[in-house]
Amino acid sequence: MDTLLVTGGAGFIGANFVRWLMDQTAVRVTVLDKLTYAGNRDSLAGLPGDRVEFVRGDVCDAELVERLVAGVDAVVHFAAESHNDNSLNDPSPFIQTNLVGTYTLLQAVRRHGVRYHHISTDEVYGDLELDVPTRFTEATPYNPSSPYSASKAGSDLLVRAWVRSFDVQATLSNCSNNYGPYQHIEKFIPRQITNVLCGLRPKLYGSGANVRDWIHVDDHNEAVWTILNRGQIGQTYLIGADGERDNRQVIEDILTLLGRPSDDYDLVADRPGHDLRYAIDSTKLRQELGWSPRYPSFQQGLAATIEWYRQHEDWWRPAKEATEAKYAQQGQ
Ligand code: NAD
Ligand code: DAU
Repeated sequence: MDTLLVTGGAGFIGANFVRWLMDQTAVRVTVLDKLTYAGNRDSLAGLPGDRVEFVRGDVCDAELVERLVAGVDAVVHFAAESHNDNSLNDPSPFIQTNLVGTYTLLQAVRRHGVRYHHISTDEVYGDLELDVPTRFTEATPYNPSSPYSASKAGSDLLVRAWVRSFDVQATLSNCSNNYGPYQHIEKFIPRQITNVLCGLRPKLYGSGANVRDWIHVDDHNEAVWTILNRGQIGQTYLIGADGERDNRQVIEDILTLLGRPSDDYDLVADRPGHDLRYAIDSTKLRQELGWSPRYPSFQQGLAATIEWYRQHEDWWRPAKEATEAKYAQQGQ
């Protein structure tokens, strides 16, 4: 595999993927990204110009997608509207990008016989109860809760149908919550870190009992590369690093690591339909493809992430005021 089209490569996970590829492989990459509010050209700064080409455009633009897909060995599709809270305010771009965008790419890879990997989320499975050992597996029925997760579930089903009906050479992965550098500050961990750095109190939805299964973005991306190279066509792989923590614990860790009292945060309005708990059983990926997470611990990853935001204020500061104004309107 010499050339890849990476959609959404100016977003959080996509930009880290392109950076990881530059470090760990010899592939050349074309990034296709619309640069919505969530995309940032600076997230790709400093990468070698002879190996990374950036194209600003929409995954729903069939002509552009056709042209780009024709020139590569494989597509890795990260581009999406990705934030649950936004999907509750206005589902429309979620339907367009996540469903129509995926359809557009599938039609192009079908025509050109190009390998395709679909990036998805554990949220397609709905949520789990607290304090039970149950975790999501590849066999868990789909039961999405929000417009975001429903649109991702729909996109997964399109991929499965294109594999079965049209022999598209696709794999899928559903990952748990990522953290690390270049994550938009609307998301939980970077929002709280940058709040503390700005002298604002972190904001915890509801009671803070909701559990997420955290994985460092580099571990996610190494799993994606593993699946792209060694995954079985038509198969879904769950990606997770056994990182379950409740939101209250995470906020307390952030405050402690930043030298603040661990109770220095506000309880704010809960998210409507808020999923209670996610947890991934990644046995299939580990046993069949030999992947395992490299990041030593959530605590160490969180400390490194805090340090990154401390040192890259120029990257996040321009979005801070508008992001907090939007949350304030929602009582969050
Ligand atoms: P993000 O919001 O940070 O980035 C999304 C990127 O897609 C942005 O650069 C944006 O400009 C681009 N984009 C949006 N609409 C587009 C369009 N119509 N055409 C072209 N580009 C467009 O998202 P992320 O957190 O990096 O998530 C990437 C993918 O991973 C998504 O598919 C998401 O569902 C999935 N995922 C995310 C997580 C997580 O914890 N963040 C976990 C599992 C799966
Ligand atoms: O599980 C994978 C999913 O993880 C991805 O598919 C999504 O793209 C990604 O955004 C993420 O979804 P979540 O909704 O879990 O992430 P978010 O960062 O928005 O919130 C994490 C938890 O923190 C959730 O329980 C809501 C809570 N929260 C969030 C914010 C922004 C707060 O308590 N306070 C906040 O300020």
